[in-house]
Amino acid sequence: MFVHTASGVPTLALLLALVAALSRRPDFAKSARHCMVLAFIFSFPAVFFGFTDWQYFFWGVWLELIIIKIWVSGALLIFLGLAIFFGRGGRFASRAVLTCYVLAFLAVVALGYLGATLAFGDKAPAAPPQYQAGEKIYMKDCSACHPYGGNIVNAKLSVTGAPQLVDLKIFLLYLRDPKQPKPGIALMPIVTPEKISDEQAKQLFDYITKVLERPRRPLDPSLYQIPSS
Ligand code: HEC
Repeated sequence: MFVHTASGVPTLALLLALVAALSRRPDFAKSARHCMVLAFIFSFPAVFFGFTDWQYFFWGVWLELIIIKIWVSGALLIFLGLAIFFGRGGRFASRAVLTCYVLAFLAVVALGYLGATLAFGDKAPAAPPQYQAGEKIYMKDCSACHPYGGNIVNAKLSVTGAPQLVDLKIFLLYLRDPKQPKPGIALMPIVTPEKISDEQAKQLFDYITKVLERPRRPLDPSLYQIPSS
C-alpha cells in the first residue's frame, strides 16, 4: 500500500498537472499538489519497507541494483520535497513545480524497473543447447542464492571461481556435505541425491564450469582431497 501510493500518486499528479495546463483549470493543479504531499508522506514508510525487504530477501548484500535503487529513491524524495516547496503559496502550476513532477515521475519509472529486475530478472546468462539441462537445474535450485553465479548471502563465496569446482567428484562431495571454508559463516544447504541426482549434478557441474566459470580460487586441501584419477 505504501509503495503503491508513493509510486502511483506522483503519476496521477503529473496527469492532473497536464490536465490543469491544457484546460487552464487551476483546481486540477491543486489536486496534483495534494497528490504530491500524499506521495511525499508515504515515501518514508515505502523506503523503510524497501529497506526491510532488502535485509530479508537479499540479506543486506550491496548488490549493484540495490545501490542504484537507493540513489534513485533519494532523488525521488528530493523531487517530491522540491515540488511541494516550489508549489507553496498557491504557485501550483509554476514551471519549477512541473519540472519536479516530471522528474519524480521518471524516478518512479526507474524504481519500478529496478525493483522488477531485482525480483523477476534473469538470474543467469543463457546457455548453449548442450548446457541447457544444467542451466534448468541451476535456475531452479541455485540461482535464488547464487544469481549469475554470485552469492547473495556471502558475496565473497561466489559459485563462479569456487574451489570446489576443481573436479566433479569434489563438487559432488561438497553438494552432499557442504563444509564451511571458515567457521561462523552462513552454511550452504545440503543437496540430497533425491533433490539432484549424481547425473543431474554432472549437468549442473558442466553448466557452471563451462557457462558461468571464472578463474578458480585455490581449494583448501584440509577440507577435500583431490582424487588421483
Ligand atoms: C539458500 C541459499 C543457497 C542455495 C539455494 C544454494 N546455495 Fe550454494 N551457497 C550458499 C551459501 C550461504 C554459501 C557460502 C557458505 C559456504 O561456502 O559454506 C554457498 C556456497 C556455495 C559454493 C562454494 C563457494 C565457496 O567459495 O566456498 C558452491 C560451489 C555452491 N554454493 C554451489 C551451489 C549450487 C550448485 C547450488 C544449487 C544446487 C547452490 N549452491 C544452492 C547458499 C545457497
